[in-house]
Amino acid sequence: MTTPVIDIRDISVGFTAKSGATLPVLRNIDLTVAEGESVGIVGESGSGKSTLALASMGFLKRGLRLLDGSVAFSGKDMFSLTRTELEKIRGGELALIPQNSGQSLTPTLRIGAQLIEALRLHSSVSASEHSAKAVELLGQVRLPDPKAILSRFPSGSVRGRHVGGCILRWCSWAVPVPGLGSTPAGLFCRRTDGESPAPLRQWRTSAG
Ligand SMILES: Nc1ncnc2c1ncn2[C@@H]1O[C@H](COP(=O)(O)OP(=O)(O)O)[C@@H](O)[C@H]1O
Ligand SMILES: [Mg+2]
Repeated sequence: MTTPVIDIRDISVGFTAKSGATLPVLRNIDLTVAEGESVGIVGESGSGKSTLALASMGFLKRGLRLLDGSVAFSGKDMFSLTRTELEKIRGGELALIPQNSGQSLTPTLRIGAQLIEALRLHSSVSASEHSAKAVELLGQVRLPDPKAILSRFPSGSVRGRHVGGCILRWCSWAVPVPGLGSTPAGLFCRRTDGESPAPLRQWRTSAG
């Protein structure tokens, strides 16, 4: 049998309440994702979707801890890897597309510098080609004047959905498998003329 891309076995995640009691956020969750498969997790707000997505990357928010179970990515136990090993996987082999991608950018760093960081850390593109590749990728999400966007800070007219869409596209190029989208509908890049493409489908098709 081929190894699943993500193999979550019986995980429980929780935190210690002021009373000293351990309270669960996730209880006995099993989930496997095979290569090429798309899995949607539906649940009301606060039901643990984001916690599960983050746990798939071997990450838990401050205060939370793994109570039981295991998370494997391509056969690697994510909660027993070193920081260096995790850094190689995160953003290189496994991407999280946050709910508000635009607002996830550091406001004090130019957009270009932040996008190019992914190329620098996780691609074989040479440094002299980084800017050209960045312009090409921004162009693919149909943003006007990608060159100018690279030198802007993440504020003003290129905020929110636009930059979110860029990041989605970015992931499609930089990270072939797999992307974990938190509320991906919120990431769709909308053209200024109102056209609303379906980048998630395009993403899957182009990323395989
Ligand atoms: N650091 C934390 N400490 C305690 N509880 C937390 C922490 N982070 C999240 N939670 C709780 O875990 C539950 C699941 O949160 P979350 O995974 O963000 O849900 P969803 O993404 O489905 O809206 C929520 O009830 C939230 O309050
Ligand atoms: Mg969430």
